Amino acid sequence: MKIGTPLSPSATRVMLLGSGELGKEVIIALQRLGVETIAVDRYPDAPGQQVAHRAHVINMADPLALRRLIEQEEPHIIVPEIEAIATDALAQVEADGIAEVIPTARATQLTMNREGIRKLAAEVLDLPTSRYAFAESLNELRMAIDGGVGYPCIVKPVISSSGKGQSTINEPEEIEKAWDGAMSGGRIKGGRVIVEEMIEFDFEITLLTLRARSPGGEIETHFCAPIGHRQVNGDYVESWQPQAMSPAALQRAQEIAAAVTGNLGGRGLFGVELFIKGDQVWFSEVSPRPHDTGMVTMSSQHQNEFELHARAILGLPVSVEMNVTAAASAVIYGAMNESAIAFDGVDAALQDPQCELRLFGKPEAFTQRRMGVALAHSDSASDARHRANRAAKQVTPVKG
Ligand SMILES: Nc1ncnc2c1ncn2[C@@H]1O[C@H](COP(=O)(O)OP(=O)(O)OP(=O)(O)O)[C@@H](O)[C@H]1O
Ligand SMILES: [Mg+2]
Repeated sequence: MKIGTPLSPSATRVMLLGSGELGKEVIIALQRLGVETIAVDRYPDAPGQQVAHRAHVINMADPLALRRLIEQEEPHIIVPEIEAIATDALAQVEADGIAEVIPTARATQLTMNREGIRKLAAEVLDLPTSRYAFAESLNELRMAIDGGVGYPCIVKPVISSSGKGQSTINEPEEIEKAWDGAMSGGRIKGGRVIVEEMIEFDFEITLLTLRARSPGGEIETHFCAPIGHRQVNGDYVESWQPQAMSPAALQRAQEIAAAVTGNLGGRGLFGVELFIKGDQVWFSEVSPRPHDTGMVTMSSQHQNEFELHARAILGLPVSVEMNVTAAASAVIYGAMNESAIAFDGVDAALQDPQCELRLFGKPEAFTQRRMGVALAHSDSASDARHRANRAAKQVTPVKG
């Protein structure tokens, strides 16, 4: 394992496909290890582009544009940060031996669409999931719900993230509205949805699961302490680590995460989303990359999820140990639709020495856009949550 000098012929080049707040932290971790970084996004001045060696703006869902850029930049490693990319082009790049795709091109293909990963988990790996069905019309959706999924249930476009286009259905009268919401909220036009039984869980977790090379050379699986989180309308608003859970549920969660990530293969960090009720565990979904709820690890672990991803990608040793008793993260939203906003109250939030902030530097704010995150550590998860939420509220978006 060798790392070259950036901007020279010996450079180790890594290309990020998607350069939001998660990609930005992966790039910072790579920069610290002397890696040459290339940040790609669909709009200029994306957070990760502000800290990379080079930036490109392309439509990453366009296979020709993606292939052309990869041939131009000649990265050794390609790291997808988002789901909506031309994953078939990545599979071709991998097959042609042009670059390595993290964790694998197949993993990006299976997880970009809820159908691929759900069928793998439930039908191939036989893991517990909510009851589910797919539908391509309002009528098919009605039949799926009445024919087995039941009420209450949740409808989601098969290609979407952060809760977009999702809604809960409690009774037949709500089906049409949910269908319309999914049709307008999906990433890609054209309507296929998954409808899932609503699981009445006690809590949900993200189990950050790492596949990294051991000193002996084989791939080992590591688990971070479980992260609890709270979602509002399918989008995360706060997270904390560790989430207390029974030893039996934790063991089951780790078995499920090992099965899914083992099948997806490759090296890197995965965010495995699970629902927990007592000792019972359901698989929900998996990101083959750092997870938004895992931003808490910037306050809680010696090596945060971004550093772990960077190390695993490069084939370096890893440690998933926490370095505090507990920590939490709380999201700072844009609160207005404006470009070039400013943040008031940063000084007040940082009065608490146990708090930190990350302001992502997004050029444009939307009311519900995630613009930053407050982090706090403490001797209990509940106090860490209190501190992180207080700090997040103190930071006030204002017109720039
Ligand atoms: N079958 C279900 N039963 C109960 N709650 C659910 C179910 N499916 C989704 N949810 C709730 O909605 C949230 C978002 O769902 P999901 O993770 O599938 O969507 P997403 O758009 O991929 O979200 P993200 O991109 O933020 O992970 C979950 O974290 C959970 O709180
Ligand atoms: Mg999710």
